[in-house]
Amino acid sequence: MGWFSSTEASSEGGDAAALSPELFAKIKAIQIRTQRVVNDVFAGEYESAFKGRGMEFEEVREYRPGDDIRHIDWKVTARMGHPFVKVHREERELTVMLVVDVSSSGAFGTGGTDPTIKSSGTSHVSILDRDGNALSMTTTIESSFGNGVMVRGFLLNNELTDFSFSPTDSDGNPVANRVEAGKRPRSSMSPSIVFDDGGKVEILTGSPGGSRIIGYTAQSIMNMIDFGLDPQEAINSPHYGNRNSNTELETAIPGVTGPGDAADLQAGLEARGHPVVVRSLTSGLSIIQVTKEGLVGGADKRRDGAVGGR
Ligand code: DON
Repeated sequence: MGWFSSTEASSEGGDAAALSPELFAKIKAIQIRTQRVVNDVFAGEYESAFKGRGMEFEEVREYRPGDDIRHIDWKVTARMGHPFVKVHREERELTVMLVVDVSSSGAFGTGGTDPTIKSSGTSHVSILDRDGNALSMTTTIESSFGNGVMVRGFLLNNELTDFSFSPTDSDGNPVANRVEAGKRPRSSMSPSIVFDDGGKVEILTGSPGGSRIIGYTAQSIMNMIDFGLDPQEAINSPHYGNRNSNTELETAIPGVTGPGDAADLQAGLEARGHPVVVRSLTSGLSIIQVTKEGLVGGADKRRDGAVGGR
């Protein structure tokens, strides 16, 4: 097993001498396929490793909905009275290192691909024990490593992002959710427990996903109660939502999201005058449903997560 880069392979001497022109031509013909194009940031606004903000400064421009608030240029924002972001030229080139395991371990297993996105910052767990105790818990430090400060072994959260980015609206009126001492951040976390008419636990559900959590959770409940889907079907069903601006439809993830035609839905909604955006909607739902046959669980393949029980 070894590794090389195309620069080394094409240079004179060294290990590159081992690569014949024929072999090098074959290597150049290799096509790399990914499971899906990463063309936006994940929910929770994590940058993809393959398309980041880059090193080179490009411009400072007005904040647009969907921009990562971590890129806000606070000096310009303070001077202009409304938010501006600093934009860096994105990396367009990708250094790829291929490491091939030629040992026999590759011959075991199903050979299936794992579409899981490892995500961090917010988690949801649903638990129901044999005595009927139920827990639906969403927990967050907002993003990987919170605000990056650790105190006595605890990472501090970064929940300032749950306040309004601007203290006033465009008319100068103070925004209720502005940053002020003594306030709690406005959270979208919606850990939910649904009870039946007799007060018995019926469904436990919840998700990470920032301000989209409310939609993900509500949709999972509707999918089960109104449309009769089981927990896994309810999770796999493509997401849609609107946070008082564009209507967002989920880009399909092959092998993960269920049936649905975003293009058709988009055309129908746009024909009725709705502005529509099709994008990845990375929920992380964890659901338990109590049925006559027993407990049924569902975990969201859009992130990591699993169903377990005994
Ligand atoms: O409390 C909230 O609503 C947010 N701090 C949650 C952040 C979150 O879910 C990020 N994860 N994807």
